[in-house]
Amino acid sequence: MKVLVIGSGGREHALAWKISKSSQVSSVFVAPGNGGTEIEEAINNVDISSNDIEALIKFALSQKIDLTIVGPEDPLVEGITDKFQESGLLCFGPSKDAARLEGSKEYMKDFLIRHNIPTAGYKTFTNSDEAIEHVYRQDYPIVIKADGLAAGKGVTVALSQAQAIEAINQSLNSKAFGEAGSKIVVEEFLEGEEASFIVLTDGDTVIPFASSQDHKARDDGDLGPNTGGMGAYSPAPVVTQSIHEKILKQVIYPTIEGLKAEGSNYCGFLYAGIMVDSDENIKVLEFNCRFGDPETQPIMMRLKSDLADLCFKACRQELSDEILDWDDRKALGVVMASGGYPFEYEKGNVIKDLNKESEDLKIFHAGTIYEDHQIKSNGGRVLCVTALGQSVSLAQEKAYDAISDIKWKDCFYRNDIGYRAVKREKN
Ligand code: AMP
Ligand code: GLY
Repeated sequence: MKVLVIGSGGREHALAWKISKSSQVSSVFVAPGNGGTEIEEAINNVDISSNDIEALIKFALSQKIDLTIVGPEDPLVEGITDKFQESGLLCFGPSKDAARLEGSKEYMKDFLIRHNIPTAGYKTFTNSDEAIEHVYRQDYPIVIKADGLAAGKGVTVALSQAQAIEAINQSLNSKAFGEAGSKIVVEEFLEGEEASFIVLTDGDTVIPFASSQDHKARDDGDLGPNTGGMGAYSPAPVVTQSIHEKILKQVIYPTIEGLKAEGSNYCGFLYAGIMVDSDENIKVLEFNCRFGDPETQPIMMRLKSDLADLCFKACRQELSDEILDWDDRKALGVVMASGGYPFEYEKGNVIKDLNKESEDLKIFHAGTIYEDHQIKSNGGRVLCVTALGQSVSLAQEKAYDAISDIKWKDCFYRNDIGYRAVKREKN
């Protein structure tokens, strides 16, 4: 089959790389892709933006694409799946209706309450005076979230009243996130350890992927501003067998059932961000209507089952219960970013020494471009250096060993990706 992957990040490089290994796949296109997908022999870049739905449909029709897999949230929230289907094309990803689970935090929180799914207490505001009045009466920290899509930057964990007021004003009055921040959700702060729990579903059958954990903060020790994710590893030890079952029973199944009861059939990847507290209670932090980035990179390194086949079957409502086949090794990916990220950064710097790949080490590209026979930086998160090892500690050692040779002007990375799992292994 011919497969089109939509997007340009590390997630899409990893998805396309994995799909290109399927015996059922004859060609893989990525629109628009990045420098990494461009230099992969088995992958072809197509110069169409992931938001240009009309052009993507035209391409898919002209190339007789059998299956399209959507990486990022924006086109899903815009309804790309519905539009592909109207053109008679198979497209793996939730409908516009179902993608509201990520597209609106207010919708998501109200949905969770309607279906009795555990989550933090919250209140929604469009008026800053009312929001400020509310936070005067709350305990701290408190969490302020822009309602709509804000590329991972719309969440502030406020440690004081002053910070909360600043975040409220930024979103509602200064329009720091545009229309996406014209409504905010003010949420109770949850203590515990986070995990990413991602499943593949056709709306009936649910197939869970291995668990993972990412590091959203920019700096070591989970400090500094939030980013899209500075590194991830799989599996996450905090997701024990009993937590795994709890997440399916208390979160995933009721969500799929609830959507169906409300008239939308969820077909696609569903990502639940879960907080696990010290008493092993779980609560939903967020839903994403897509695979995680950078969680995809370590998860794809470990997945042995045929992803293209699973997505194809899901689109045709032919998914049957199946236990995925995994590499027993652990995987860990470290993001290398451009100096300044998640704020302003330079592009166009030449990246050297990217030839360290082996069976257990893969350099997934995100913000890169292949130009003049060289790979250059072209975004904030640039690479995700991902390694397999018998333990998280060994995978971590291998990834950092490879990173020490890769350089470009002002690049930076966190030095402690996987620290929680490494600490557990040492104990
Ligand atoms: P979200 O995009 O909603 O997942 O938020 C981004 C990050 O902010 C999460 O991964 C958490 O680290 C943090 N966060 C969000 N909501 C809460 C909460 N209610 N309590 C504690 N931390 C939170
Ligand atoms: N790594 C977090 C996300 O993909 O939203």
